[in-house]
Amino acid sequence: MQKDFFFQPFTAEFARDPYIIYSRMREDFPVYYHKDWDMYLFSTHEDISTLVNDPRLLRTLEHEMTASELASKRERENWQASPNFSRYVRVNILDSEGELHDRLRRLVFRVFTVKRISLLRDFVQHLVDERIEEVIVLGKMDFIEDFIAPIPGVVIGKLLGVPEQDRHLLRVWSERIVRFYEPEKTEEDTRKAEEASGEFADYLINLAERRRKNPEDDLISELVVAESEGQLNKDEMISTCMIILMAGHGSTIDVSGNGMLALLQHPQQMEKLQTQPSLIQTAVQEMFRYDSPLPFFHRFMSEDMEYKGHKFKKGTKIGVLYGSANRDPAQFKNPDSFDIERQPNRHLAFGIGSHFCLGNHLARLNMDIIFTSLLQHFSGLSLECERPEFRIGLASRGLKSLPVSWQA
Ligand code: HEM
Repeated sequence: MQKDFFFQPFTAEFARDPYIIYSRMREDFPVYYHKDWDMYLFSTHEDISTLVNDPRLLRTLEHEMTASELASKRERENWQASPNFSRYVRVNILDSEGELHDRLRRLVFRVFTVKRISLLRDFVQHLVDERIEEVIVLGKMDFIEDFIAPIPGVVIGKLLGVPEQDRHLLRVWSERIVRFYEPEKTEEDTRKAEEASGEFADYLINLAERRRKNPEDDLISELVVAESEGQLNKDEMISTCMIILMAGHGSTIDVSGNGMLALLQHPQQMEKLQTQPSLIQTAVQEMFRYDSPLPFFHRFMSEDMEYKGHKFKKGTKIGVLYGSANRDPAQFKNPDSFDIERQPNRHLAFGIGSHFCLGNHLARLNMDIIFTSLLQHFSGLSLECERPEFRIGLASRGLKSLPVSWQA
């Protein structure tokens, strides 16, 4: 009975081990109605793959609204209180559907092809080598803060076209802006998110003007050309750059930390990867599956529909627990074991369907280089605390810190 169980993800217990709860949901409440959120949660691999692939399930229904419906919705949601954040962050590829989504996705897709992303290999390698050189003599570090956190902002900066001397700014902007989505954000967090959105937007507008005069081989130059051809407007250009940073920055830090922890907790797997580096690709996929950094997304039903005997009204909000799907025994053999050779590995860490992660090649390239290089240079890596703490939350899963040591 659903009344015996209440899904409460904002607790230390859930942060410690969400997988016990996900397992209970898959077994006993595969369609779970969360009363406080007025949302149906789905947790099995089969349901999530089917529903997210269903064209009647959408990220937003805003594209179907009239201008006045949209204006009153936004007023109810208090968009006017954070004008920069609302203008440049809330309307983006991920949160759009229909013509807007297709148009923006097509433009960004050009920059995220395997071929284009593989051109970043040497750049990422150099960055990782620099980090290794800086810490290796120390014998210990916080893997999150001392090693990984500075990397993704710089890589995304390079991809966007942010000049080298300014790339460090992206980490700060990203961290401030995403605080807005925290369930327990303070007024100060909201103020800083708004301020950072304004600063980042001003910076991008200025950069776009410079690229208009002197184009380079980067995303912002491509978007400037597309804008001048009328393929997107200026606000869409800015919000596209912003979502790329927001989507790729924290998730890369989190999955690297979660993957590192998985290796430290499974020393035989770590040793196997160290002696057989050619396993890196399946190992990285397993890191994404085993402890996914973005375990929860939502959809809306765009019409009345029936699914597995349940009737849903148009507008019903559903939550998809990708993190749970990735541990579903109906899809994965021994789902709770960490197996760097797992194949097939049809995980949903990058989603599925029309919003499938555009940054997946980049995310995997980063992880490939980071873990190959780390295991090549560090020996005797071990965990320096009993149980590293995960942040409390549902939409993202990552460690607060990860103290590690090695033989220096
Ligand atoms: C590092 C780990 C990453 C994970 C686990 C991840 C996961 C995801 C997921 C699950 C979605 C789909 C959301 C949904 O179903 O509603 C998504 C979308 C997206 N991701 Fe990623 N992502 C990662 C990294 C990146 C990177 C590095 C970038 C770019 C630099 C990026 C850019 C995007 C964009 C632009 C979308 C929106 C696509 C659309 O709506 O059409 N992601 N990501």
